Amino acid sequence: MHRTLRVPGLARRALSSSAATPSITPKTQALLDLSENYLLPVYARPSFVLSHGVGSYVYDTSGKRYLDFSAGIAVNALGHADQGVVETLAKQAGKLLHTSNVYHNEWAPQLAALLVQLTQREGGLGFTPNTSVVGGAKVFFSNSGTEANEGALKIARKVGKDRAKDAGVDSKTRIVCFEGGFHGRSMGALSVTTNPKYQAPFAPLLPGIDVGTLNDLAGLEKLVTGETCAVIVEPIQGEGGINVASTEWLVALRKRCDAVGAVLIFDEIQCGLYRTGTLWAHSTLPVECHPDIVTMAKPLANGYPIGAVLLRDGVAATMTAGTHGTTFGGSPLACAIGHHVLSRLAEAKTGQQIAATNVYLNKRLAELPTRFPGVLEPTIRGRGLIRGLGFLDPTHPGIVVDLARTKGVFNVLRLVPSLNVNLPEVDTAIDVLGECIGDL
Ligand SMILES: Cc1ncc(COP(=O)(O)O)c(C=O)c1O
Repeated sequence: MHRTLRVPGLARRALSSSAATPSITPKTQALLDLSENYLLPVYARPSFVLSHGVGSYVYDTSGKRYLDFSAGIAVNALGHADQGVVETLAKQAGKLLHTSNVYHNEWAPQLAALLVQLTQREGGLGFTPNTSVVGGAKVFFSNSGTEANEGALKIARKVGKDRAKDAGVDSKTRIVCFEGGFHGRSMGALSVTTNPKYQAPFAPLLPGIDVGTLNDLAGLEKLVTGETCAVIVEPIQGEGGINVASTEWLVALRKRCDAVGAVLIFDEIQCGLYRTGTLWAHSTLPVECHPDIVTMAKPLANGYPIGAVLLRDGVAATMTAGTHGTTFGGSPLACAIGHHVLSRLAEAKTGQQIAATNVYLNKRLAELPTRFPGVLEPTIRGRGLIRGLGFLDPTHPGIVVDLARTKGVFNVLRLVPSLNVNLPEVDTAIDVLGECIGDL
């Protein structure tokens, strides 16, 4: 027996006009009912259940196919059900899954070394390209982006205390963040995520947070002071609407951090790990703006939970045994998959494919503001495979997302596809996006 899918207002209009009406089987309805009855309702999910995926596509339990142009929100860099990831996971799961961090395992040191060596080879974290030194930076593995940021903030706090003591200063504990930034939802990460929608219900949050405006050069001196221990910023804001920090501003920010002895943290959880075509979004920027710490997560193990803090030896030195920890972070399983994924992403052919896709995506995206000048901002946001469209009417994005889903494409507004997405898939996404904006 099949039932008609219940969809809200505008999506229903689109369904009746341009897409076959999906149906809900009893098995799917039973799963939706379990969700409603037992899952904490912190997400407003559409009424279908995803069952499997291949490459850039996912399928629901009725067999409907969707182009996943959000790659699980910038996570599935190698697409769904990648054979190499599947094999690595199965092999390592059958060998050693978890050991706790009380013992060494085979994969955490290898993944840490790969992260540091690739950063040195490409240039990032203050290393000029092709640096080849043993060590120079350290890695702490966590289970998520939020935890990576918590770790980074804790490290910066400790560095701040050391520096305050050395300088005979009373207090160096304040943290600077920026409007539109997103750093996670634990109390510390949430405290530097300034969106009132996320923060207000949980206030009071951490004290001592100063909020600045991205790319505001004039405000830096007052914002970052001798009391600042850390500055956290995304070089390209993801959740905040794909806003790119200007190079000039990042250089000035680094200079100001150096002047007052603050630790500069780049949250590259969404924009890092080859999303812009290079290992880090900041790799191609002048070394004068590089951070002390980079945080990463999402695509590192292609969907298996992992996060990491990568930090220069100069700031790492404060962290000694017992100062930070985790039960699951850095497990042999997560790190084996991470090592496989990172090795594949670092191959020259992946970089070439990302560059070619980027050129094509640019060309296709550029058509849209010309076709819809009354609806879209004239310029496309972001770079590489982290792109966004600015809508002039704030009610339009939600409608377009719903419409596109009914036409079989996930998230056509924040474009963060798999890094191996192909050109016909780009065409599908942009064609559907154009249709949906036309439908407005
Ligand atoms: C830039 C950025 N930082 C932090 C996070 C939090 O990461 P996680 O959801 O893995 O905890 C996200 C998640 O979207 C993010 O985009």
